[in-house]
Amino acid sequence: MPTTEKNITIIKLGGSCFSDKKVPRSLHVDVIDGVCKQLEGAGFPLIVVHGGGSYGHPVAKRYGIHLGWQEGFGDQSAGFCETHEAMVELNHAIVGQCLKHGIPAFAVQTSAVFLLEGGAVSSARLDAVDALLDQGLVPVLYGDAVVDTSRGFGIMSGDAIIVELANRLKHRVDRIVYLMDVDGLFDKDPRQGPGARLIPDVVIEGGELFVPGEAGPARLEDVVQQGGASIDVTGGIIGKLRALAHLEDKEVAINLICGRNRSSLAGLISGAPVPCTRVSIKR
Ligand code: IPE
Repeated sequence: MPTTEKNITIIKLGGSCFSDKKVPRSLHVDVIDGVCKQLEGAGFPLIVVHGGGSYGHPVAKRYGIHLGWQEGFGDQSAGFCETHEAMVELNHAIVGQCLKHGIPAFAVQTSAVFLLEGGAVSSARLDAVDALLDQGLVPVLYGDAVVDTSRGFGIMSGDAIIVELANRLKHRVDRIVYLMDVDGLFDKDPRQGPGARLIPDVVIEGGELFVPGEAGPARLEDVVQQGGASIDVTGGIIGKLRALAHLEDKEVAINLICGRNRSSLAGLISGAPVPCTRVSIKR
């Protein structure tokens, strides 16, 4: 029976990387294909976690699923189920691409693994994920609509899943790679025109995010010009990074890189310098 003694890398396929947020249920199959190509024969144990993109977010937002039971959102039971169904459809497509590339991907239903209570994780049954890793397989989890025993339901983001996996698996997670539509975090949106600067380092300290600089650290929120309306129900990139403050192992290597080209991920894996934002957590 194959067992894996090596440390685990988690790849987070961010929704912005593989889908167009303006077009419901849009999937850039070429992007998934490129990511899988770069992971072929990776030679180290992997978990893939993908986000919701224009599959999960718009449905969740329409029905207020991230808010739990609320007046004024229509039939939230139907919305809860529809959000999950959208994620299952997306997951099916992503796992299918992985299999085409010889990656032994195995879908793990997030909402069957985790329960929330008041928005916090109250139950996590991760033995199957550990067992899949023991078999040399690649568990694929995803942001999902999850039962919340006090609010009815909620959304568990891919980023919250990553923290739970890193903190609770019997295997050690030593690297987390965020695949984005751009090279990392910028001081302003690089898609809106020239002049945006890549932020090479972000430090998480005491739950806050800082950008180191010659004049001392600056709060990330003060450095980054944030966009306007969004389909995102899970807090955008800053919310995602803030979730990482809950990682118990502060030594995990965390990189934000572009998942849309066919070279950054392979470069990072091989140890080559690639444009990225590195995230470190201070004790
Ligand atoms: C969101 O997960 C899942 C749902 C809306 C159901 P994420 O928050 O991880 O998704 P992305 O990466 O932002 O799309």
